[in-house]
This record gives sequence, C-alpha cells and structure tokens, in this order.
Amino acid sequence: METAFTELVGVRYPIVQTGMGWVAGPRLVSGAANAGALGILASATMTVEELRAAVREVRARVPEGTPFGVNLRADAGDAAERVRVIVDEGVRVASFALAPSRELIARLKDAGVVVVPSVGARRHAEKVAAWGADAVIVQGGEGGGHTGEVATTVLLPQVVDAVDIPVVAAGGFRDGRGLVAALAYGAAGIAMGTRFLLTSDSTVPDAVKAHYLRATVKDITVTTAVDGLPHRMLRTELVASLERAGRARTLARAVRHAAGFRRTSGLSWAQMVRDGLAMKHGKDLSWSQVLLAANTPVLLKASMVQGRTDLGVMASGQVAGVIEDLPSCAELVSRVMAEARQTLEALQSLHALPPPE
Ligand SMILES: Cc1cc2nc3c(=O)[nH]c(=O)nc-3n(C[C@H](O)[C@H](O)[C@H](O)COP(=O)(O)O)c2cc1C
Repeated sequence: METAFTELVGVRYPIVQTGMGWVAGPRLVSGAANAGALGILASATMTVEELRAAVREVRARVPEGTPFGVNLRADAGDAAERVRVIVDEGVRVASFALAPSRELIARLKDAGVVVVPSVGARRHAEKVAAWGADAVIVQGGEGGGHTGEVATTVLLPQVVDAVDIPVVAAGGFRDGRGLVAALAYGAAGIAMGTRFLLTSDSTVPDAVKAHYLRATVKDITVTTAVDGLPHRMLRTELVASLERAGRARTLARAVRHAAGFRRTSGLSWAQMVRDGLAMKHGKDLSWSQVLLAANTPVLLKASMVQGRTDLGVMASGQVAGVIEDLPSCAELVSRVMAEARQTLEALQSLHALPPPE
C-alpha cells in the first residue's frame, strides 16, 4: 500500500510507531522498523549521548538503509546538539512534539532529514506547513499523553483540508479499519502510540501492560493535575489523589516524589530539572511550573521503567480500553495491513451494489 507518506519516508507500510518517553527505545523502534512501519525513538527522556547510542543500537538491529525517526523537543536547551546527532547519524525522520522553528526545519531539510512535527490543531499544521515541514502527524484528543480537545474524526479532515503536505492521523488507532478510515478522510497513514506500547517488543514491565489491558474506555481520563497541561492517562488512585490535592499539596508531593526518585535513580537535581524544562513550552517558567514539569518524566519513568504504578502515571490513549492483547510489532503490522485489505474489499463489494431506488 503506497501513499504520499510511504513515498516520502521510504517505509513499506503507512504506519508510524510514535515517540513515547521511556517507551519508544531501540527495541520497540527496531521492532516497528523491521515490521515495515516507521519507528520513532523518543529522545526527550534521553541525554544527548544516550540518544546517539540509541540511534546506533537501532541501526545495528535493522537492515542497512531501513528508515526510522527521532522525536525531540524543539524547545529543549540542547535541541541543536540533538539535531547534530540526527544529521551526523543519518537519521531519516525528525519528529517534534511541539512546533519546531522555521530555522530548525530549514537546517534539517538542508541535511536531507524529513521533518514531521506532531500537531493538535489546524493552525499549528498550517504554520509548520508554511515553514516547510514535509508532513504532519495530527493527534486527536483521544490520543495518549499530552493531548488536545478536538476528536480525531473532527480534527483530521479539518487539517487535511487546510494543508497540502501528507497528513498522518493519530489518536485512537489500533487496527486496519482505522487505517482505511483515516485514508478515507484523506490521511496518508496512521500513527499509533498506545497500540505499540502494548506489544511484546515494548520494554514496559508486564505488570504495567496488564494494567492497560484491564482498563475499559472509562478508566482513561484527561487531567491537568500532573503538570498543568491536559494529559491523557489511566485513571489510578495516584491520579485521583493528585486531583484532590490542590496546587500546594501537588507541589509538595512533586518535591517528595522527585526527592525519592532522585535517591533511587541516581539522577542529579540538575538532570531532573533539565528533563522538566524539556517538557514545558516557553522559557518563561515559574519555579513551581518547572518542578511540576520535572515531575512528569519522573512519574512516567516510575511506571514505564520501574513498574511502580502506585508512584507513577501511565499515559494512555482511550484506545487502551479496547486493546486486549500483546502481539509483536511484526504480528501487529501484518494484522493491521490484512484487516485494511479486507476492509477495502468489503467496501468495494458495497460499491458494486446497485444504487438505492
Ligand atoms: C506513554 C506515552 C508517552 C508519550 N510520550 C510522548 C513524547 O515523549 N513525545 C511525543 O511527541 N508524544 C508522546 N506521546 C504521544 C504519542 O506519541 C502519540 O501521539 C499518541 O500516543 C497517539 O495516540 P494513541 O495513543 O491513541 O495511539 C506519548 C504517549 C504515550 C501513551
């Protein structure tokens, strides 16, 4: 199945495994890439040197020339160094959680890197398209992690109509029906986060994956209690208590968690604050915002790496409520493509019916 996106990036299938902090490491990314999808490494939770090592590890795990990507934060203090790693190491795609500047886009494109920012609103898509982005991933509100308010079914056609670069649909996808539906809306592919988190190639601890599998659609919520931004995640006792706590107690808790986490992880305060800064938008941050933001990767790491669902948050799309298994990336991608083919055939037979009287 060839689309404008598969041609642009050189992947076999119009499927993207998105960059997810602490989740999208070399094992998941190489699993997705070997399955014919575009795997994207999440770099916001890595140091620059860890990023370089992760890129090399992916390369060692895939056949030469297999495309993959790196997700980074355009506003990170060391974004320029990260871009250098992407360019030096010949990474095919740069993906951004927030809109990159015109200059950054130009620099990457001059070096032959395909630039694919993620957006959650039409005007952001228009802006990055005007600045030269090669494609956009558009995430509807049902998607996991930091998310917007507008559902994929409304946002996607709005963005498709507004820009003339390939649009990849994200937020709520898990199967071949979804892929065909996205193509029908005019997208050039789908991007999935939660569905790839729930594969056997993902390094998330099994007990944590079991939480996701148990969740129903009603167990997934959007909260601003973690870092002040709308964040979609599994509803847990920790999330409920953060919501009950109010700002002052949330801050106190953030300090306690950060202190406890620092002791067990061996991270320095400077490193933790840098992680936090990398999670926030502007440069005009109060210390309380920095602290809360610094707490987000800490809380995510507690679950995704350390398996402490009592101490951490589990970012999740609504789609976790209808996911029930842990296929490998290869099984998942071939299943999605087989379902897409069946769906297209079923639609063709519908087309063959005589028109209604
Ligand atoms: C655990 C988790 C961590 C995430 N971390 C990031 C991140 O670091 N950068 C980013 O751009 N998006 C992040 N996201 C959002 C995903 O990349 C993706 O856009 C989203 O999961 C798509 O919706 P879906 O979960 O319904 O497939 C994260 C999502 C999840 C579930």
